[in-house]
Amino acid sequence: MEVKSTMEDRVIGIDLGTTNSCVAIVDSGTPEVIPNRGGYKTTPSMVAITEAGKRLVGHIAKRQAITNAENTVYTAKRLIGRKWDSGPVKNARQTVSYEIVEGPHGDVRVQLRDQLYSVPEISAMILQEMKLVAEEYRPGEEISKAVITVPAYFNDSQRQATKDAGQIAGLDVIRIINEPTAAALAYGYGKEMERLIAVFDLGGGTFDISILEIGEGGVFKVMATAGDTFLGGEDFDARIIDWLVQGFQDQHDVDLREDRMALQRLKDAAEKAKCELSGVGEADINLPFIISVGRSNEALHLQRTLGRETLESLVSDLVDRCVDICRGTLTDAQLEASEVEEVVLVGGMTRMPMVQTAVAEFFGREPCKGVHPDEVVGIGAAIQGIALVDEQEDLILLDVTPHALGVMTFGKNFEELIGQNTTVPTSQTKIFTTSRDNQTAVKILVMQRESEDDVLLGEFILTGLRSAPKGQIEIEVAFSIDSDGIVSVSAKDLETGQEQSIQVTASSGLTSEEIDQMMEDAQEYLVDRRETDEFQAAQQRGETLIADVEKLFPEVEEIVASSDFGREAIGKAKGVLDKTRQAMESKDVEALKEHNEALSRTLRMFKGVVSRPH
Ligand SMILES: Nc1ncnc2c1ncn2[C@@H]1O[C@H](COP(=O)(O)OP(=O)(O)OP(=O)(O)O)[C@@H](O)[C@H]1O
Ligand SMILES: [Mg+2]
Repeated sequence: MEVKSTMEDRVIGIDLGTTNSCVAIVDSGTPEVIPNRGGYKTTPSMVAITEAGKRLVGHIAKRQAITNAENTVYTAKRLIGRKWDSGPVKNARQTVSYEIVEGPHGDVRVQLRDQLYSVPEISAMILQEMKLVAEEYRPGEEISKAVITVPAYFNDSQRQATKDAGQIAGLDVIRIINEPTAAALAYGYGKEMERLIAVFDLGGGTFDISILEIGEGGVFKVMATAGDTFLGGEDFDARIIDWLVQGFQDQHDVDLREDRMALQRLKDAAEKAKCELSGVGEADINLPFIISVGRSNEALHLQRTLGRETLESLVSDLVDRCVDICRGTLTDAQLEASEVEEVVLVGGMTRMPMVQTAVAEFFGREPCKGVHPDEVVGIGAAIQGIALVDEQEDLILLDVTPHALGVMTFGKNFEELIGQNTTVPTSQTKIFTTSRDNQTAVKILVMQRESEDDVLLGEFILTGLRSAPKGQIEIEVAFSIDSDGIVSVSAKDLETGQEQSIQVTASSGLTSEEIDQMMEDAQEYLVDRRETDEFQAAQQRGETLIADVEKLFPEVEEIVASSDFGREAIGKAKGVLDKTRQAMESKDVEALKEHNEALSRTLRMFKGVVSRPH
């Protein structure tokens, strides 16, 4: 199908992953993943600040992670939208190599060098980088619209925080979609099919399973979804790290966890060994000089061999957890595993043979091999993006909410309003009445049910109620979940028809003032970054030109030295070379560009001289 979109409609899809992020675009009906400067189709979701205060994102951040462990952030996605006192954050405080502290809203802040950053700000740095990757690929175009993916099992706070991150990055986030749903879109896009599929997505940080029905005319209907936002490659790595640390402790009576640099090297080695073991039966882990001990600073080395079987025994319960969640999801959808007609594997962890076997056994069929596990989510996001801006696209996406939504009023239990796996957007109303005479306010807690836990999304207070005997005031409160999976609440006094002023305080979100400030900072960075990029490009060109001119110099000098005119030209050329070098040194980009032009004219002239018969 021919897709016509104007430049203003240009929209990218971003898979903001725990470990890797990926950006894609749909061009003339064909979705494609955009490679970064290094030619890679995914970019590590890592951010670092160097000693000189320079921001590094992606591969360059990853490359220096070991030597700058305290100022390099990874797995920020595991912290986004979470409260400081939540279990996952407590756990992260023990394991990550960077410093995290409590923010002003009971949220999480990351300390890098002498500055504190909110988690959405860190994610924004990654999103901004992905935006730049796309813009570099499309010179002259400014890309502002984006569809960003989140794990299906993300709750409202996590979705809201991801949206905030997009806004901070200067993106107009036109939709948040679920990762497995995006994968299904990429799988089914442009193919006429009717099929019941399961998307099994095991990435670096999260696990999601979704069951979808793909129907005629581009209808994608999610039947059920479930997952665990704390089950992914990181947990597999952690098992290997534990095994290495324990072995080292037994052998040397030294705890490697005390040393951040050692821990970062262990993490690196563990992940590498895990990936290797997807292809071979044994992996050697060699970490010389891992730590120095005692008064004599004796260097100790770590050397182990990890077999695939050992790895499998270390992580089997994690794989079992994935399968259990699949079973629960099928039950929710009232389906048998055998009814699923295709299983799509997504996420880097699905390259592990044990995971593939477990999936094949559970569903009783070999998973589909046709999609790229690292790229489908980004591609699906781009497809959703184009469908939202281009009316010609026939695509209907019906997703569901992964968590039940309910309320708690004073002294009562969780009362469900919208069930798990309800198709979104959706809304539900509930009548609240006053329980005391002349009560002027009612406080209501909005909760989402995650596994067996209730997560407080926010609380709101119905204020300014009329004076009346108890029970006489009836207020209708509407709870909505939009297509992004984000919850909103509005209220109306039934008798007067008056809209009630309601106040929803997000439990761990950022204030709009904070977001504005962060946007400004991000914009400032962008200006700096563009200047640096522009200078670097000019510098590279200048260096090439200098080298080319210098190479021809002796020959040209010899040919023209006999004439005054020639000597003058040589003098001028030397002047241009000097000026170009000076502009490079003083980092004057405008002057450099000008001298580059002069130098390129000199080069043409030189080439003319040496090619003439003489
Ligand atoms: N060959 C392999 N064998 C085993 N694991 C692998 C292999 N290749 C990559 N991985 C693991 O896959 C994980 C990264 O997967 P992916 O890039 O899909 O995650 P993500 O999208 O960043 O995370 P999430 O979707 O959870 O937010 C890492 O833990 C990585 O170690
Ligand atoms: Mg992923």
